[in-house]
Amino acid sequence: MHFQENISLKKFNTFGIEATAKYFASFKNVSELEEAFKIDPVSPLILGGGSNILFTKNYDGLVLKNEISGISIVQSDEDYVYVKAGAGEGWHKLVMYCIDHELAGMENLSLIPGSVGASPMQNIGAYGVEIKDFFHSLEAYHLEGKKISEFDKSACEFGYRESVFKGKYKNQFVITSVTYRLNKKPAFNISYGAITEELETMGIHEPTIKSVSQAVINIRSKKLPNPTEIGNAGSFFKNPEIIGQDFLALTAKYPGIVGYQLPNGHVKLAAGWLIEHCGPEVGTSWKGFRKGDAGCYTKQALVLVNYGNATGDEIYALSEKIIASVNKKFGVLLSREVNLV
Ligand code: FAD
Ligand code: EPU
Repeated sequence: MHFQENISLKKFNTFGIEATAKYFASFKNVSELEEAFKIDPVSPLILGGGSNILFTKNYDGLVLKNEISGISIVQSDEDYVYVKAGAGEGWHKLVMYCIDHELAGMENLSLIPGSVGASPMQNIGAYGVEIKDFFHSLEAYHLEGKKISEFDKSACEFGYRESVFKGKYKNQFVITSVTYRLNKKPAFNISYGAITEELETMGIHEPTIKSVSQAVINIRSKKLPNPTEIGNAGSFFKNPEIIGQDFLALTAKYPGIVGYQLPNGHVKLAAGWLIEHCGPEVGTSWKGFRKGDAGCYTKQALVLVNYGNATGDEIYALSEKIIASVNKKFGVLLSREVNLV
C-alpha cells in the first residue's frame, strides 16, 4: 500500500474544495483496509467519490479511498437476480451493468455520482425510487470489532436520505460490498411527469429499461450542474417534511408553494422553491446568487456551487444564510443533506 502525506483533496471531492489530508491511502480489499487502519485507528475518513461531502477544514488524520472493485451476479430465481458490487465501484457503472443485463429497478437512479459503497449511506434516491426499493444486503467492516458484519434491509433502517450508517453508526463501519435484488420483469415507475414528457420528446411509446434510464439521464443533464464543470454536491439540503395543517397555512399565504402529500398525512416541501422565493435582501432570490466563487445554482436553487476557488467555509456560510432566511420567511428549518467534514 502507498501512503501519502499532506496531499490535496481537491480532486477527490466534487465540490472542488481545497483541503489537505494529513495521510492518504487507497484500499482495494479488506486486508488493505486493516493494514491502513493501523495508521489511524481512531478516526479514518472513508471516501468514495466525494460527491456528498463538504470539507470545511483540512483533515488532520487518515483519509482512506475505497477502491474495492467487482460486479457480479451471485444468485437468481424465477423473479429476481441478485447483483453484488464492491463498494468502490461507481454507482452509475453498476446501473449500466444492470441495464446491459436487462435487469430492472435501478433505471430511475441513473447518473447519480459516487460509489456503490455510499449508496446505502443516505439511501440515495431520485424520480420516485430509492435504493431501499431493491436493496438486499450489505457487508461492512466494523472498525472497533475488526470484523465484517452483514446487514439486511431492516438492519439498515433506511429513511429519506437516512440510514444507520449516517445516523447511530456514523463513522463506525466501512461498507465493503452491497447486494441488490433486481427484477427480471420491469415495473416502470414513470409517474414523475418529467420522465413521461422526456420519453415523449424522445419519441418513445413503449418504455424499456434503457429508454427510461436515458430519459432520466437527459433530465438530470439539463437540470443539475456537471461537477467536472461547476463544483457541487447535488442537493445541499433535504426537502423538509411538515404537518398537513402547517402546509395549509403556508399555502394560504404563498399559493405557489410546492409540496407533496405523504402517506402519513404530512407534506414534503420542495426546498428548492422555498430557497428560490427568498433571498439575501427583501425582494431578491437566492437562486443564481453568487458571492465570490460560492453560489446558489442558476437552474436549481437546492444546489450550492463552487465556481472555482470557494472555500468550504464560504459555502457553509452561504448555507447558514439560506437556512436563516428560509426560516424567517416561511418558518421552516432546512437541514443539510451534505456531510460536513
Ligand atoms: P462520498 O461523498 O465519498 O461520501 C459520503 C459519505 O459517506 C461520507 O460521510 C463518507 O465518509 C461516507 N462513506 C462513503 N463511502 C463509504 C463506505 N464505503 N463505507 C462507509 N462510509 C462511507 N444523491 C441522491 O440521493 N440523489 C440524487 O439524485 C443525487 N444527485 C446528485 C447529483 C450531483 C451532480 C451530485 C454531485 C451529487 C448528487 N447526489 C445525489 C449526492 C451523491 O451523489 C450521493 O450521496 C452519493 O451516494 C455519494 O457517493 P460518494 O461515493 O461520492 O460518497
Ligand atoms: N423548485 C423550484 N425552484 C428550484 C428548484 C426546484 O421551484 O430552483 C421546485 C419545482 O416546483 C420543482 C420541485 O421543486 O418541480 C422539485 O424539483 P426537482 O424535481 O428538481 O427535485 P428536488 O426536490 O429539488 C429531489 C432530490 C434530488 C433528486 C430529484 C429528482 C432531495 C434533497 N433532492 O430534488 O436528489 O435528484 O428530487 O428526484 O430530495 C440529491 O439528493 O443530491 C439530489 C440531487
